[in-house]
Amino acid sequence: MKHIAKKSILNVKPYVPGKPIEEVKRKLGLQDVIKLASNENPYGPSPHVLAAISKAAHNLNRYPDGDCYYLRQALAQHLDIEPNQLIFGNGSDELIVMAVRAFVNEGDEVVMATPSFLVYDIASKIAGANIHAVPLKNFRYDLEGMKAAITDKTKMVFLGNPDNPAGTYLSEEDVRHFLKGLRNDILIFMDEAYFEYVEAEDYVNSIRLLRTHKNIFVTRTFSKMYGLAGLRIGYGIGGPSLCDVLNRIREPFNVNSLAQVGALACLEERAYYRTIAKKISTQRRYLYESLSSMELEYVESCTNFILIKVKAKASKVAQKLLEKGVIIRDMSFWGMDHYIRVTIGTEPENQKFIQVLEEVL
Ligand SMILES: Cc1ncc(COP(=O)(O)O)c(C=O)c1O
Repeated sequence: MKHIAKKSILNVKPYVPGKPIEEVKRKLGLQDVIKLASNENPYGPSPHVLAAISKAAHNLNRYPDGDCYYLRQALAQHLDIEPNQLIFGNGSDELIVMAVRAFVNEGDEVVMATPSFLVYDIASKIAGANIHAVPLKNFRYDLEGMKAAITDKTKMVFLGNPDNPAGTYLSEEDVRHFLKGLRNDILIFMDEAYFEYVEAEDYVNSIRLLRTHKNIFVTRTFSKMYGLAGLRIGYGIGGPSLCDVLNRIREPFNVNSLAQVGALACLEERAYYRTIAKKISTQRRYLYESLSSMELEYVESCTNFILIKVKAKASKVAQKLLEKGVIIRDMSFWGMDHYIRVTIGTEPENQKFIQVLEEVL
């Protein structure tokens, strides 16, 4: 069927996710497997969240609320915005795809960084866009380079903040400087999937920017900090007219009922998630120290993952780690042949990773 598929789709390299734990156990005959490959929260959601989800399971015969009413009200209050400034997605991935579908025509240009989150590239390619991918400089966004890549045909710019795989962030000053003098008919997509992990005081306050820039769309997710990756729920924040546009192409029941209930319960659990943020921060320092003592270079991250330069081929290192029951991400797929990306796990998981990495290297 390839010959009758849209040409733009044939340019797409399918997204390769981190391997599921069960698959590795089954294929390699291993009992003890840890996954540090998809930047999930290793502790999972709180007992209160799990109880709310179990309770809601009794109503699975009903379609979900397509408008996500209760979650919308609570989140709007939590963020101090209006309910009509929100749109929900089946993961923030879906919002990336929806935004490109709504705004980018074939032949339009999209500016993004490279290496960056792969879904920006995939969604733009499917739309038939011409992509200007601007290399990171020292693992940070080259915003001057990205601004210079903007032309009359540019429709959209992706700012992953912090971005994956580098884990570095953009400050308030960086973003304000970038926006200065930019046309206001370009959609600035600010992906803040790791927002809750960022500790930097000069991190941009994107919601405040929305008041003056109607062309900014911010996305966040319940997958990373909140531990609901398996339920698939993310949200976008923008002006009412931007959200109205996206709402027109949203599938009627795109966010399932358990996800809505789970996300709502997460908002009531600030203390639980603050504790997790602290644990991750402590573990990040443990990993930095361990990597330094192994004389391995890494990129300082403000997220729950770390990009590490290994002294051998990343694909080999990843395979050897896998055989010992540790799933991490081989960055060769991103063209980084000597890098792996590791999600910060629980204390015993990180210790196992370091011990196995030492053996493998
Ligand atoms: C930068 C970035 N944005 C968005 C996502 C998508 O997350 P989700 O669709 O689970 O909300 C991810 C997931 O890995 C990510 O790394």
